[in-house]
Amino acid sequence: MTTVVFEVEQAGCGSCASRVRSALEPFGAVEDVQVDEQADCATVSLVPGASVGEPEVADSYEDRRWQEARAQVQRVLSEAEIDDPDFFGGRVLLEIGPGPVGLPEASGAKLALAVEPLAPRLDAAGLLLRGDAVYLATGAESMPLLDESVDVVVARNSLDHVVDPAAVLAEVVRVLRPGGLLILNVDVGGEPTAEEPHAFTTDDVRRLVAPLRVQRERSIPDPHGHMGAQLVVVAMKDASTDEPSTTLPRWISPS
Ligand SMILES: C[S@@+](CC[C@H](N)C(=O)[O-])C[C@H]1O[C@@H](n2cnc3c(N)ncnc32)[C@H](O)[C@@H]1O
Repeated sequence: MTTVVFEVEQAGCGSCASRVRSALEPFGAVEDVQVDEQADCATVSLVPGASVGEPEVADSYEDRRWQEARAQVQRVLSEAEIDDPDFFGGRVLLEIGPGPVGLPEASGAKLALAVEPLAPRLDAAGLLLRGDAVYLATGAESMPLLDESVDVVVARNSLDHVVDPAAVLAEVVRVLRPGGLLILNVDVGGEPTAEEPHAFTTDDVRRLVAPLRVQRERSIPDPHGHMGAQLVVVAMKDASTDEPSTTLPRWISPS
């Protein structure tokens, strides 16, 4: 297996090295980081394309699909710089546009939902993992979910594929619980293509997520498509400041 070695300047301590390690993880498994404190730099060895976290390759196709699904969970968390490997555990997760990768199934979420217009075709072709996720065969522009019913929304490499990104973000804001998180990863700085009809700038994405409070934003210099870079945004829906209603709905009125 090929190893790529990076020389990183201004990384002369363990804490810089660990930031370099997490920044490079999306590009492959980090084999080794050696810090040279005298020279204020580090050498990072990377195995490109290796499954994140699982060096052994499973024997069967089905098991390898599950390995890749687990790797996708780690990839999404690592891109978002979320350290807890069980972050989705106990939460209601919604992925927008998972394709056949299997993040919802491998997430460990209390309830894993997936909004994927291609779901019936992926299912008919036997491409969906046999797990506990619930696929909704619709676009994320209008989701058959209650207001404030979801803890985490993941949208990785899908927002530039949808018909109406603004409608999707409005739906994300609607379905997220107060305190809920959006983990968004989308290309910026590219050109529209048939597959990815929306080409965003960083400011476009900031405008789209403006109803949420951005906790973290980072750029990864390797686009999903052909041009630009990935922009990763982690944003939270603030707790509602609306006064609680004092009027009981008719059907629970005691009279
Ligand atoms: C490039 S794939 C991304 C797969 C996976 N999330 C990943 O990171 O590799 C984009 C996905 O977005 C889905 N998609 C397209 N339009 C959509 C829409 N309106 N709502 C939700 N998903 C959509 C596509 O069917 C496709 O599965």
